[in-house]
Amino acid sequence: MSSKAVILVGGDTRGTRFRPLSLDVPKVLFPVAGKPILYHALVALAAVPSIKEVLLIGFYDDSVFKDYLKEASAEFPSFSIKYLREYRALGTAGGLYHFRDAILKGNPYRLFVIHADICSSFPLKEMLEFFDDKEAKAVILGTRVEPEVARNFGCLVSDPATKRVIHYVEKPETHISNLINAGVYLFDRSIFDVIRAARTAKAEEAVTAIYDFDDEDPSEILRLEQDILVRLAQTDGFYVYETRGFWRQIKTAGSAVPANALYLQKLFQTDFDAPGLAKPSATIIPPVYADKTAYIDPTAKVGPNVSIGPRARIGPGARVKEAILLEDTEIKHDACVLYSILARGVRVGAWARVEGSPIQADQHSTTLVKDGQRVQSVAILATDVTVGDEVRIQNSIVLPHKDLKSDVANEIIM
Ligand code: GTP
Repeated sequence: MSSKAVILVGGDTRGTRFRPLSLDVPKVLFPVAGKPILYHALVALAAVPSIKEVLLIGFYDDSVFKDYLKEASAEFPSFSIKYLREYRALGTAGGLYHFRDAILKGNPYRLFVIHADICSSFPLKEMLEFFDDKEAKAVILGTRVEPEVARNFGCLVSDPATKRVIHYVEKPETHISNLINAGVYLFDRSIFDVIRAARTAKAEEAVTAIYDFDDEDPSEILRLEQDILVRLAQTDGFYVYETRGFWRQIKTAGSAVPANALYLQKLFQTDFDAPGLAKPSATIIPPVYADKTAYIDPTAKVGPNVSIGPRARIGPGARVKEAILLEDTEIKHDACVLYSILARGVRVGAWARVEGSPIQADQHSTTLVKDGQRVQSVAILATDVTVGDEVRIQNSIVLPHKDLKSDVANEIIM
């Protein structure tokens, strides 16, 4: 029996917190641990033999995924992969409903739905087994977070013995649980009945509400979280599979740094010799991923948790740790880059320092309070930024093409 997967990739009006890194490339194609964010979900799907088709649903222009789809089709021969474009943002469940015929074609036995903007160990096989064990209709992946941050997520209350979900609230005002929605679902086809019922209820509400008739049909826009999961929690058959594997969201640009660390550590632990992983040495502290065209001077010290893109150059005596360096970046001799992201073509001068602040891989916030001010934990230099010799950049975001000749701390440079 075959199954399918849908990955919700959003569109250019979503993922705005990922700017300035999403100005050049859609968030889901941004490289983390040397590969597009999307790739890590595809690897997990490829490990489930029953999955024969993966559908990316979003509202980006078709051209955005053209090249990557070709690459992914060659890399993941066990399933076919297609992009389906919503004519406008239909919400996380609206797109599923709109493309229901394409999704249900071939009568798939199970449907995974995955938010593209997460970094996870993706325990998909375990979710399938759990689904069968429980004779469920829907299973959601849940993860525990610190109680202080739980209110920023969708919160689940479940029966501790059976794991049946009995209550779901998206971003509640008060604390209800620290078990949260991790953005991976497994459904049987009855999910479309639930979406249809939610749509009808929304359409009825819209008839009684006063709205501008020039507006498009408001019942078309459906959110899995608010419109569907809340309903599912009132039925039997909705269960939570709680993961103890790693998980975090990739919302802000800075969150790519801890996601990079998590995926690199996983790769290093599971396949020490994986292509692209630099061999540990006195100056390479693993895990470090380096494209084969990158150059690291033997006297530079690099790692842990560093990804280095094509044609990047790290000069003599430089120090790089907890960082993502994209293609064509250059770090001159004796410069230091810590807790930072350097986008394409960034140049860092000799003896310069670009630094964010230490951030735990499982910490969900990417800001911190410094001198009474909320600042970015990660320093982000967008495309083609140049940092002069001996200049120091701390906890700042710098927009494309800036030429920085003096020190900057805790700022956004437009
Ligand atoms: P918040 O996290 O609530 O601020 O909103 P968000 O839009 O950043 O993320 P949300 O958790 O709602 O989205 C989960 C995933 O679905 C992300 O990968 C989004 O890119 C994607 N997504 C959000 N809205 C849409 C939509 O209208 N259509 C499609 N196809 N995907 C969407």
